[in-house]
Amino acid sequence: MRKRLLLAAATLVAADASVAETVELTIDTDEPIGRIDPNIYGQFVEHLGRGIYDGIWVGKDSDIPNRDGYRLDVLDALMELDVPVMRWPGGCFADQYHWRDGIGPAADRPARLNASWGGLIEPNSFGTHEFFNLAELLGAQTYLNFNVATGTPQEAVDWLEYITSDSASALAKERRTNGRDEPWQVDFYSIGNETWGCGGNLRPAYYADLYAKFATFLKVAGDDQPKRIISGSHEGNIDYSRVVLEHPAVVNQADGISVHFYTLPTSDWSDKGDATGFPEAEWISTLARTLRMNDIIAEQLAMLDAVPEGGELGLYVDEWGVWTNPSPGEPGGVLFQQNTIRDAIVAALNLDIFHRHADRVPMTNIAQMVNVLQAMILTDEERMVPTPTYHVYHMYKPFQGASSLPVAFESPAYRHDETSIPALSASAARTEDGSIVLALTNADPRTAHRVDFGGHWRVASGEVLTGETMDAHNSFDRPGRVAPRPLELAGTTRIIEVPPQSVMVLSLEPSP
Ligand code: AHR
Repeated sequence: MRKRLLLAAATLVAADASVAETVELTIDTDEPIGRIDPNIYGQFVEHLGRGIYDGIWVGKDSDIPNRDGYRLDVLDALMELDVPVMRWPGGCFADQYHWRDGIGPAADRPARLNASWGGLIEPNSFGTHEFFNLAELLGAQTYLNFNVATGTPQEAVDWLEYITSDSASALAKERRTNGRDEPWQVDFYSIGNETWGCGGNLRPAYYADLYAKFATFLKVAGDDQPKRIISGSHEGNIDYSRVVLEHPAVVNQADGISVHFYTLPTSDWSDKGDATGFPEAEWISTLARTLRMNDIIAEQLAMLDAVPEGGELGLYVDEWGVWTNPSPGEPGGVLFQQNTIRDAIVAALNLDIFHRHADRVPMTNIAQMVNVLQAMILTDEERMVPTPTYHVYHMYKPFQGASSLPVAFESPAYRHDETSIPALSASAARTEDGSIVLALTNADPRTAHRVDFGGHWRVASGEVLTGETMDAHNSFDRPGRVAPRPLELAGTTRIIEVPPQSVMVLSLEPSP
């Protein structure tokens, strides 16, 4: 009898899809890799394009339904994701941000030029109070990026005191006057952003001096200090971080170091490739490139292990995601790009990689939350749409805080022209309630793959996300075109068929 799981509602496979041989997959429940910090599902929120204004913040007087200025549709969608942590205010923008511009009565806040991103007007109506109140509403931790390039240590120290002090200091009183009695919590901070580039083009030894100086004074009252993150390298560039870490007062005053890695479909910054309407050559090049994340993490960890005390530092992937050419015809805004089933696969491949490094990677922040790069949510005036990436984050929620488990299987290859990548990706975890969750992704746009759990497990329930075409996406007119569907289980559930270009998250139970 043909062992098969019926995916009645889930089989949106391409017309010429075929099914390949069955792959045996085992999960090692005895040797957990480590706890998957929920912050691996962190997000990045920058003053860039329509990321904040229109995307999150419309102001209390807007016709768009809002709660205290935050648009309700976006707020509701974010609440569903259990956003664990948000990084703000940049990015490149952080190094031109002066926090005093964003406090006090909205009408008195100065409009500035956003020199980092298109010279647009930055109204400063979303500032410290608006960010920390949003974090509170979402139940998210906070990750602040201090301005090291055009700011001073004193400015940063004052900001930290303004936010966190419970005392009778002038800054704490000013916060109360501005409407917030209780202090907020800063859970993480970084000193500078991309200091090798937009954050000042600093030589690593000079940045190390600045980091050491800022860190010396950036303390909060009490024992519960924020975790301190060094702004590190990008992609395969290890040397910048290595030199920064040579300064003993850097390593001794840090809890982690960041790395940034963006996936460009073409690898060419002058023509990154389009977000939709791309050829299969750019489907596979995108996925091949994003899989480099695994090597980038491994190289960074090897570098940290070679530095005295470096092995104690967490690796924070605090910017990552797909970066394409801006989408023509989409609502205007800097770095606004459509988000397709290809982005969903990228998200799943990276989350699987992060799960495999759960013991060393305590946080990642996808770029960015709304309307910018690989966004969770897109908005157009009063309309909003969750992207395929949003759906992956929602499907993967059971992994937050779960114990990552090693998965063994031999993936078939997916080939196009000269490029070959593993067709299948997987990660597994034991959730806090003791159940086993398995993510399975098929990067092959043509061939379904069957996965056999060797009689050890059976599927209790699950969801699948796929698309009719390689660039299937949700538009404002068709917001539900790419959405997860529950698996309809019938017959044996010990073998599962993973449709082409799909992401699945399954709940497993021991096979009787
Ligand atoms: O996310 C967009 C930009 O990419 C960030 O501002 C910067 O840090 C990176 O280069």
